[in-house]
Amino acid sequence: MVAEVHGVSKTYRDHSVAALRDVSLQLDSGQFVAVCGPSGCGKSTLLLTLGGLLRPDTGRVVVNETDVYGLSPNERAAFRAKWIGFVFQQFHLVPYLNVLENVLAAELGMRGSPPTPDRAATLLEQFGLADRLQHRPGQLSTGERQRVAMARALLNEPCLLLADEPTGNLDEENADRVLDELSNFADRGGAVMLVTHDPRAASRAQQQINLLEGQIASDLTTATRLE
Ligand SMILES: Nc1ncnc2c1ncn2[C@@H]1O[C@H](COP(=O)(O)OP(=O)(O)OP(=O)(O)O)[C@@H](O)[C@H]1O
Ligand SMILES: [Mg+2]
Repeated sequence: MVAEVHGVSKTYRDHSVAALRDVSLQLDSGQFVAVCGPSGCGKSTLLLTLGGLLRPDTGRVVVNETDVYGLSPNERAAFRAKWIGFVFQQFHLVPYLNVLENVLAAELGMRGSPPTPDRAATLLEQFGLADRLQHRPGQLSTGERQRVAMARALLNEPCLLLADEPTGNLDEENADRVLDELSNFADRGGAVMLVTHDPRAASRAQQQINLLEGQIASDLTTATRLE
């Protein structure tokens, strides 16, 4: 199993309602899952928790047989850099680095790995950004920034790819490129969790999980849930 979430609950300190309530699921190699649900139902919280970026109050997150929150902060950062690709809802590109450098920044957490500018440039080319390598994020359209964030998440060929609304700002052609890359990644044996409001994007996934008020309301395959 690539990723497992066991009985995870999370309440933000300044928020009275639980953002996640006893959520359990698992993601296997080659699995492409879409998480849907109304705004505020906990989708981003689930993704952050699974991605090692937000410690849950209770429960466990296991990625690649490692208890993610059992690691020290430094170990967890290195673990994330190696195994987890994350496309943030707000991209989080570094404003003073150009497009190529932003993608290569994914390697910063990986001690001893040689930089791979060719691979970064190839990925950017696949996303239609070949002539934008030297631009800074501020000189890009929102959809272009979104595609840089995708390239960065894929650079290290992680085992788990977590993408929060990665097609939210894209036209149909570019949304298809991103969805194709997510599918290809799963076909290569990775596990993908896609958060989306877009039914067309969700339909590209093998399974759909619906979140409602921090709980799994339904999923199309009960196999993705741990009882
Ligand atoms: N940093 C935070 N501090 C306090 N409350 C938060 C914080 N982040 C999220 N919340 C609350 O937790 C709940 C779940 O938020 P989350 O961002 O996971 O929702 P979401 O499903 O991703 O929504 P959207 O579709 O709008 O992105 C919401 O009610 C939100 O207001
Ligand atoms: Mg969100």
